[in-house]
Amino acid sequence: MLVVKSRQELRDRVREWRQKGDHIALVPTMGNLHDGHLSLIDLAREHAERVVVSVFVNPTQFEPGGDFEKYPRTLATDKRKLKRAQADLLFVPDVETMYPFGTADATTVSVPKLRDDLCGAFRPGHFDGVTSVVGRLFGLVLPDVAVFGQKDYQQQLVIRRMVEDLHWPVRIVSGATVREADGLAYSSRNQYLTEDERRIAPSLYEVLQKLGRELQAGKREFRQLEDQATATLAAKGFSPDYVAIRRAVNLQAPDRDTDELVILAAARLGSARLIDNLVVEI
Ligand code: PAJ
Repeated sequence: MLVVKSRQELRDRVREWRQKGDHIALVPTMGNLHDGHLSLIDLAREHAERVVVSVFVNPTQFEPGGDFEKYPRTLATDKRKLKRAQADLLFVPDVETMYPFGTADATTVSVPKLRDDLCGAFRPGHFDGVTSVVGRLFGLVLPDVAVFGQKDYQQQLVIRRMVEDLHWPVRIVSGATVREADGLAYSSRNQYLTEDERRIAPSLYEVLQKLGRELQAGKREFRQLEDQATATLAAKGFSPDYVAIRRAVNLQAPDRDTDELVILAAARLGSARLIDNLVVEI
């Protein structure tokens, strides 16, 4: 596996592959890799001959007072995992490489409405940071395919919208959420949980599943169902940001006849902010 820091070397390598006729898949990450990330690399391999993985803790997507400083950075272990997963190239740029004009004056890509909803309402500026860094990665790698996790459901939709709206010739592929045995979705932020909090954490997915069963059973009092689920989370010790039932395609409010729903939730537990979602096809 090649480990590349500079944009020139990245471009040279990718160009060589492309000239040979290989397709390129990109898997953007912030590192501290777990089985969820690794599943995306396997999926990327199904779509392209060459898999590029980026590890970059992107400062512009952390809100002030967020966990940028303490975000886990584990590059040596990440490299070992990526070699085992047979990634072809690991791109590990520094901030100057990604933001040549600095982060304060950086050109920003912004997807209106979607970026302000749900997680965007609780993390101002977060999705602008995500689209701005993913846009840069697309410009550097020029991938044929880019792979994102359904775990970050809103992120994946924001990126799909960006690509469509800006006519970028990148196909976005989504990978299913990978979970621990007790249902908790893998996340780099799970390690912020204390032992007691870790025992409570799987309830987040349980609450989504229960709500999913209620929707399947025909309940359509969306507001009431959301409120009940929020109260259950609070009773279990979470500080919920939201539980929302939306249209799976675009996160808009559903009506009684919507047959593809997604339930999304975000809740703080101790110093961790956990998110999860469940797609419900009626
Ligand atoms: P990060 O949180 O490192 O996640 C990288 C990718 O892994 C994202 O597409 C995310 O949805 C996916 N992922 C995370 N947990 C997963 C799980 N349990 N199962 C399946 N996939 C999972 O998301 C980001 O980084 C950043 O915002 C990024 C897109 C890299 C831009 O900086």
